[in-house]
This record gives sequence, structure tokens and C-alpha cells, in this order.
Amino acid sequence: MTSYTLLSAAKINLYLEIIGHRPDGFHELAMVMQSVDLCDRITLKEVSMPVRRLYCEHPQVPTDGSNLILKAIDLLTEKFPELVHRGVEITLEKNIPIGAGLAGGSSNAAATLVGLNLLWQMGLTQIELEQLSAQLGSDIPFCIRGGTAIATGRGEVLDPIPSLSDLYVVLAKYDSISVSTPWAYKSYRTEFSDRYADISNRATLQDRQRRVHAGPIVTAINQKNNASIGSHLYNDLERVVLPAYEKVMQLRHTMASHGGLGTMMSGSGPTIFTLTTTQAAADDILTKVRADLPDPDLKLWSACFTATGIRLES
Ligand code: C5P
Repeated sequence: MTSYTLLSAAKINLYLEIIGHRPDGFHELAMVMQSVDLCDRITLKEVSMPVRRLYCEHPQVPTDGSNLILKAIDLLTEKFPELVHRGVEITLEKNIPIGAGLAGGSSNAAATLVGLNLLWQMGLTQIELEQLSAQLGSDIPFCIRGGTAIATGRGEVLDPIPSLSDLYVVLAKYDSISVSTPWAYKSYRTEFSDRYADISNRATLQDRQRRVHAGPIVTAINQKNNASIGSHLYNDLERVVLPAYEKVMQLRHTMASHGGLGTMMSGSGPTIFTLTTTQAAADDILTKVRADLPDPDLKLWSACFTATGIRLES
């Protein structure tokens, strides 16, 4: 039986600005997203029975219908009812931390869509897969595309920007701390709604969009000016997540104290990252943070930027 193994990359947000609250309950965003080479490994195997099975040894990963992998299969079957008789067995090797702001679940759903398109010879284009995937989650289109991208709307509207490939990142997350994304956005809305645009009003939205301050980091990326990229990292959600999680705030201070190009929280957190220009510098910062915070609950990784979101294992 045919099988494919794919690597699904984590993402970080180099920039996340909240523009306003949308009528559909989501938030209008301006983001710069970046794939990093910390990957889950997903094997899809065709089976002759029309069953869909998911295996994962990680104790915190649900293998029932709540997992985005199974939701992705359901979405395809709903859109293409002729697939209802096809079966697949999926094995997930989880390396990306969960509830971390690194889009691990979204990336797995992206790999499932890309993998099934191959396994079931569906012939969908990448754009078609991206458009379909937006129904499952705001980050999934980016996870399919990968590299470096400007993301607006809910996060699903992608604009190309030159891919950054020569940068490295140290990632740090307390194993026992996870942040609920809906909670983070809701808290921001409660506390900072005075900064919001009424985005159902076109003129107000356009006025607010003119004041989006992503310009300097986008220019820095276009010019591949690493120092400027590092100094223009930004995330509105830090305003609510850091005060609520003292240890994450402390971790951010410790990470930032060891140099690097810049330090920021990714997405809704609680992962904190520091950018560097070399693998050696990333490893050095990792060692220093480990020495400063010798808590076994603190997990650290170093990874390079990557231009691909989902790739076939060679
Ligand atoms: O799209 P996704 O399922 O990843 O979003 C998870 C949650 O994050 C949403 O249910 C919503 O509460 C919040 N969210 C938001 N605005 C966005 C993206 C996500 O409010 N643009």
C-alpha cells in the first residue's frame, strides 16, 4: 500500500498586530509569519478499508475527532464525497510543543491536506489546498505555504515577501504552561478595545489599516537587514499573556539579556524566541538560558528558519 512521510514545520510570528474585532468573532490582524525547522513527522498510509485512524504516542495529543488531522480528513470528504470509500492510517511523531503559539496542530492539518492530495491523487493545486484549509483554522494556509509571509484578515490572507533563510532561533517554553488562543484574544479585546477599529465600517477600517506599523519590519525583511528585523519584532498579545504568566515574563527577560538580534513571544504564546545569525550563537544563548533557569520544566530548542512549511521526507 502507498505511503508518504511528511515533515510539518512550526511557525513563529515576527510581527502580530491586532487591528480590530470582526463581525465573525475573529480579529483582523497584520502579521509576519516565519516557518522554523522544528518539525513534526507525519506518515500517511493508504488502507483498503474505508477507515481513518490516527496514532500518536504523545500523551497530550488527542487521537479522536477533536484532532485537526481528523478534521482535515473530514473536510476533504465533505467537499469531495467520492473520497468517502478511501481509507488512511496516520502516525504522528510530535516534536513541536503543544499549546505553544507555534501552530503545531495547524501544521499537522496542513501536512494532512498536502499528504492526502498526494495519496489519494486528488490533483488539487497549492492555492486550492490553502483556500480549503482556511475553513479549518486561520494559520493553516500559511503552514501549507511556509517560508516568510505577510498574513492579514484572520491570518489566512497571505502576501509573499522574500523568504528569510539565514537566521536561527532559540525557542523556550515551560512544559506545564499552555495558553488558550481564544482566551488571549478575548482578554486583549476586553482590555484594549479602545484601540480597535470598527472593521465593519469600510472607512474606519481603511483609516486603521493606514496606521498599521508593520512597515519597518517588512522593509527590514526586504533588505535582509538582520539587526533591523530583530529590533522591529512585535506582538500585541504580549500585553495580555506576559502579565498573566509571571514565569513567562521572567523567561522573556532572561532570553533578552543574552543578546541575539531580538526576543519576542510567538503568537498567543507562551513560547519565547530569540533570533540569531548563526547556529553557534543560538546554541550559546540556549546554554546560557538553561544555566540561568535550571528548571526541568523549561524546554529549549534551537532551529533555523526554513523556506518550506510542509515537505516530503527525503
Ligand atoms: O483560526 P483558529 O482556529 O486557529 O483560531 C483559534 C481561536 O483564536 C479562535 O477561535 C479565536 O478565538 C481566536 N482568533 C481570533 N482572531 C484571529 C485568529 C484567531 O480571535 N484572527
